[in-house]
Amino acid sequence: MSKVLFINGSPNQYGCTYTGMKEVADTLSKEGIDSEFLWLGKKPVQDCIACNFCVKNGRCVFNDVVNETAARLPEFAGIVIGSPVYYGGYSGNISSFLDRFCFSSGGPAGVLKGKVAAAVVSCRRGGATAAFDALNNYLLMCNTIVAGSQYWNMVHGFTPDDVKQDIEGLQTMRTLGRNMAWMIKCIEAGKKAGVADPVQEDWTPTHFIR
Ligand SMILES: Cc1cc2nc3c(=O)[nH]c(=O)nc-3n(C[C@H](O)[C@H](O)[C@H](O)COP(=O)(O)O)c2cc1C
Repeated sequence: MSKVLFINGSPNQYGCTYTGMKEVADTLSKEGIDSEFLWLGKKPVQDCIACNFCVKNGRCVFNDVVNETAARLPEFAGIVIGSPVYYGGYSGNISSFLDRFCFSSGGPAGVLKGKVAAAVVSCRRGGATAAFDALNNYLLMCNTIVAGSQYWNMVHGFTPDDVKQDIEGLQTMRTLGRNMAWMIKCIEAGKKAGVADPVQEDWTPTHFIR
């Protein structure tokens, strides 16, 4: 059975971000797709130190949750990254995790390529679109197939009970879940029918100078 990995960057394991993501997971379950949650916890995740060890070695120099997750990625057809909104951005832990995870996971031809993906954010009141946009930058540069919904993927609340009253936010999560399920099934059907994965050219970095 296909499986989607949910990475929760909130320090609250079962808080508002989780409540929004769980609605996506429950919808996937109704569509026959399993989910697994990875909670980044309350302790700081190591930052990227820009040592470029990963460029040569294909894994991060720090052997922790980043390398463990990258090694397991072939198990998953999709990925959802979630964060509370902090000052109009995303949480420090999801930033540290994603900087290292995306940079070390093989670039455009890496382990994220072709995964059906989405970002989910939770805020009390404002800054959700800025955080959502910024999280999407990771997904859009890693050759994932980003799923949309009927609105931007955000829920509102200070407590999980608040989020449960965000009727439109939860509906947005369910629509996202159904769209992800449909995309995963289409990709699987395409593979069975012999549709080849898109070819990835070798990267030609120019850094805007010659
Ligand atoms: C340090 C910090 C900064 C925050 N900044 C914002 C913000 O900019 N906008 C907002 O609406 N809520 C802000 N909040 C509230 C949380 O984003 C909101 O309660 C969120 O739903 C909590 O999700 P969680 O339960 O998954 O941690 C902030 C909370 C903290 C702790």
